[in-house]
Amino acid sequence: MRTPVIETERLILRPITMDDCQDAYDRWTSDPEVAKYMIYNTHTSIEDTKGWLSTIDIDSDTDFDFAVCVKDEDNYMCGSCGLSYKKDIDCFVAGYNFARDHWRKGYGTETMQALVKFGTEVLHQTVLESSFHKENVVSGHVLEKCGFEIIGEGNKTKLDGTTPFEFYEMRYRIKPSKETFKLYNGVEVEPVGFGTYKSSEGAVRNALDAGYTYLDTASYYFNEDVVGSEVKASGIARDKIFIASKVWPTQFGYEETKKAFGESIEKLGTDYLDLYLVHWPKLTKDDIQWKRKLIATWKAMEELYKEGKIRAIGVSNFMPHHMKVILDNCDIKPMVNQLELHIGYMQNYAVEFCRKNDIHVQAWSPLGRGRLNEDEIIQKFARKYAVSPQKLMLRFLVQQGISVIPKANNPVNMKNNLDIYDFTISDEDMSFLMSLPERGFSGEFPDLEDFEN
Ligand SMILES: NC(=O)c1ccc[n+]([C@@H]2O[C@H](COP(=O)([O-])OP(=O)(O)OC[C@H]3O[C@@H](n4cnc5c(N)ncnc54)[C@H](OP(=O)(O)O)[C@@H]3O)[C@@H](O)[C@H]2O)c1
Repeated sequence: MRTPVIETERLILRPITMDDCQDAYDRWTSDPEVAKYMIYNTHTSIEDTKGWLSTIDIDSDTDFDFAVCVKDEDNYMCGSCGLSYKKDIDCFVAGYNFARDHWRKGYGTETMQALVKFGTEVLHQTVLESSFHKENVVSGHVLEKCGFEIIGEGNKTKLDGTTPFEFYEMRYRIKPSKETFKLYNGVEVEPVGFGTYKSSEGAVRNALDAGYTYLDTASYYFNEDVVGSEVKASGIARDKIFIASKVWPTQFGYEETKKAFGESIEKLGTDYLDLYLVHWPKLTKDDIQWKRKLIATWKAMEELYKEGKIRAIGVSNFMPHHMKVILDNCDIKPMVNQLELHIGYMQNYAVEFCRKNDIHVQAWSPLGRGRLNEDEIIQKFARKYAVSPQKLMLRFLVQQGISVIPKANNPVNMKNNLDIYDFTISDEDMSFLMSLPERGFSGEFPDLEDFEN
């Protein structure tokens, strides 16, 4: 792509050309007060400026170099700016410089804002970098105003290898807004819910205080009464909280499921559920009746849904061959499939099947229940994005449209787990993390479990 023309309120950013040499030389490249903050030495002849401009390839796909002109003074050229792709850091680097008589008039901010807009909206970059001379405090403020943050400091030498100077490196990152996920029946699901399996007393209350609005429980967790009483104690209106529970395989069957549902809502102190899931597809690995029982269970789920007692119905730990039993024999397709999913155990065959059938995928044990805490690769990527390994793991799932329900008894952990929207994992890193060999798997296979006792 050629360097485009960008107009701001007061400026025109247009491709810089060799015809601009004289003006650039006369106005700033020969000024030592400008050059002292820049990577180039003061130009002492027009040839120096020609040499600099001749390195610019205006048809480049990766470097965008602009002359900055003030609009209302007959397109008076007063500076230059650019965005250049740096292979070693896989990132575009933005910079600008202005003639001294154009300093402190807000032109730097206006220019950098235009470069950030171009870099993010046209070049689709989620990260941009820049740097400024440590003594150039004003440039530091300009970059901060444009959303850059200091990420490090170092020493640079001028282009001719002389005069080392200290500089700060800065990074601009798009802050992704919080996604919300919609089930195919229109019900909205929070990307980060709160898992309550083995949660301690008071954890649900703390989670609600921390800002969670989605609670995942199950009859099998034997905590629905605690969840219910902590919801009540929070004083938060029922319709502001999303409550999901599950029917356990020992409760399968048409009548049994209806009874189990009644017991769950009674313990939870509510007259409806936002989501009700079939916890596992079968009771035992040798149960030859599992399909018949599953169909009867699902019929009860469908009826409860049609009666308005459940806002959405779904399954958990279902592989495609389990889901097909429902799809082939029932009226309503599951809206959710809750699966063990985390870096190192992505069950792609099941996730892909759900996506094809518009079934929302939700991750249980999104943190691998602590089994991934010491994983070196996860730690390496967490360091790269300057986040905790847990934040990386949750963002990895949510970025794929998968909601997560991390459990945390520690109030600091539960708060941190909600805060995953200030960074984006690059496509390349997503692909790498997605293809990692198995790690952190619980060992639970839906076709090999026995839940009879
Ligand atoms: N459908 C199913 O079959 C099924 C199966 C299992 C689980 N689930 C659901 O999924 C939920 C989550 O799964 P899970 O409980 O197995 O495991 P998890 O959420 O992957 O991991 C929970 C563990 O991670 C720790 N942790 C949480 N946030 C952390 C942070 N920011 N930094 C460091 N450590 C952190 C917790 O410690 P602290 O508690 O000390 O904070 C806890 O030890 C369950 O609670 C349950 O609701 C469903």
